[in-house]
Amino acid sequence: MSKKNTGHSISVEEFKLVNEPFYIPIKNEVKIFEEAYNSKIPVILKGPTGSGKTRFIEYMAWKLKKESPSSPLITVACHEDLTASDLVGRYLIEDQTTKWIDGPITRAARIGAICYLDEVVEARKDTTVLIHPLTDYRRLLPIEKKGELIEAPDGFMLVLSYNPGYQSITKDLKQSTRQRFVSIEFDYPPEETEAKIIAKESGCSTKIAASLALLAIKVRNLREYGLSEGVSTRLLIYAGSLIKKGVKPIEACISTIVWSLTDERELQDSIEELVRSIFTE
Ligand SMILES: Nc1ncnc2c1ncn2[C@@H]1O[C@H](COP(=O)(O)OP(=O)(O)O)[C@@H](O)[C@H]1O
Ligand SMILES: [Mg+2]
Repeated sequence: MSKKNTGHSISVEEFKLVNEPFYIPIKNEVKIFEEAYNSKIPVILKGPTGSGKTRFIEYMAWKLKKESPSSPLITVACHEDLTASDLVGRYLIEDQTTKWIDGPITRAARIGAICYLDEVVEARKDTTVLIHPLTDYRRLLPIEKKGELIEAPDGFMLVLSYNPGYQSITKDLKQSTRQRFVSIEFDYPPEETEAKIIAKESGCSTKIAASLALLAIKVRNLREYGLSEGVSTRLLIYAGSLIKKGVKPIEACISTIVWSLTDERELQDSIEELVRSIFTE
């Protein structure tokens, strides 16, 4: 994995996957994604933060593109100010000559990589203008500034992620965009699976992992009482990691779960109570 600084406010990661990423399938997402890829249909990964979207796309890139000599996956961390030029590319002046630099979407379309636009926001119209031609059957990427039209090769795939709970209506994906994609919904894994993930990723004992998975279920039930998002698998892994390093379970859970989830005192107290009902020290 390498991070590239493009000189602009854009964070791009190119993955070269050597080892199989650890991913436990939750439902039918692997099959759906595989068939979407084979059918050249773009995909949206929907779900709360820390629910496994990034890990899943890395796993799928590895699974589908083991033989690929170049980067199988190019990930762009999106934000509101991301422009079409950030994605497509731009002319830079170097040694008094102008030189075209491909942006991440262009690079993916040239080399046939999976292009993952993480947390895409459609606040800007020019994002839509880029995405739509790539999603129809011809899979074209027009680079207006260069007068070039790229036809994406077989290995290219456009994948977006978005968090329905977190994004506001104005930033929501438009119907005209979302109806061009197959959607895969991510939710938190079932208790036993989540315990396995926590143990494997944090290295904590299976007993601690099981307790954290149980705590997660209880905390997620608090969503009905005003907690906007349940505790993510990621936070549970953080808790497991601290405990493994010798931090007492209750203290670990307070720092990683209670304080991270909310600033509201009452809710914090309720979560802490749940923690104390599961851990004794
Ligand atoms: N199904 C899964 N199999 C293996 N690990 C998982 C799974 N779901 C979540 N994880 C773990 O949770 C962490 C957070 O998931 P991530 O993919 O970063 O979430 P998201 O991209 O949805 O915010 C991952 O780094 C991984 O350790
Ligand atoms: Mg992610």
